[in-house]
Amino acid sequence: MKIGVIGAGRIGGNCARQAVKGGHEVMLSFSRDADKLKALAAELGERTSVGSPREAVEFGEIVILSVPWSAIHDALEQAGSLEGKIVVDTTNQFGSGPMPAPGQTAAAFNAGRMPGARYTKSFNTLTSGFQAEAAHRSDGEKVVQWVCGDDAEAKRQVSQLIEDMGYVPIDFGGTETCEVMEAPRRDGAVYGEEYRAADAQAVLDAVREGRPIPPTPSY
Ligand SMILES: NC(=O)c1ccc[n+]([C@@H]2O[C@H](COP(=O)([O-])OP(=O)(O)OC[C@H]3O[C@@H](n4cnc5c(N)ncnc54)[C@H](OP(=O)(O)O)[C@@H]3O)[C@@H](O)[C@H]2O)c1
Repeated sequence: MKIGVIGAGRIGGNCARQAVKGGHEVMLSFSRDADKLKALAAELGERTSVGSPREAVEFGEIVILSVPWSAIHDALEQAGSLEGKIVVDTTNQFGSGPMPAPGQTAAAFNAGRMPGARYTKSFNTLTSGFQAEAAHRSDGEKVVQWVCGDDAEAKRQVSQLIEDMGYVPIDFGGTETCEVMEAPRRDGAVYGEEYRAADAQAVLDAVREGRPIPPTPSY
């Protein structure tokens, strides 16, 4: 697949790296220093290119948005229309910028900032260092990347990408009921915690039934 990356820093850069490893083509975009993007593209090899956010959107069958919360507005403005595009939002609501209303998830809020996009959210629960280190583990030890979104086919395609990147995709449900995968790290949330596939279903069952999730597993 062709993947456009808007914000190729710690999380977006790792997503790009793992996507290339997984056989995909990547276009990197959105930096205050164009040389940084060129250097990363050179490091990742021939299936990687550099463009503007708008070009990354045109290029990508999937677009990964991975910028600081405070830079989302600029990034979306530079990206232009996302109509019909599958977007993976990796952001968390830290720092400045417009914030979700009380009781609203960050995913639902951001989906509303991307009219027409086939919005999904993933790669947001684990630190960048851990995501980089834990990609492509062997089967039983693979790390879960939770995915939420309201478009089932978009989630299916993003899940395939996540699998190709060496993680286990687990569908957390819709954008309005995904607060357990959102920041901050706290009791009763999967945010900030490692999960493996064997422990994921019990979390989904608890969330669906409105029960507290089981204690965080340790590996
Ligand atoms: N870091 C983590 O462990 C982690 C984990 C999960 C989720 N997240 C979330 O994922 C998103 C990306 O985080 P990150 O840690 O990957 O961020 P990051 O390393 O700072 O990367 C952000 C990218 O955006 C680019 N950018 C372009 N214009 C910018 C501007 N005006 N201000 C700031 N950056 C600009 C930066 O490029 P230049 O610096 O070259 O300009 C950089 O490549 C955030 O919303 C974060 O909350 C982070």
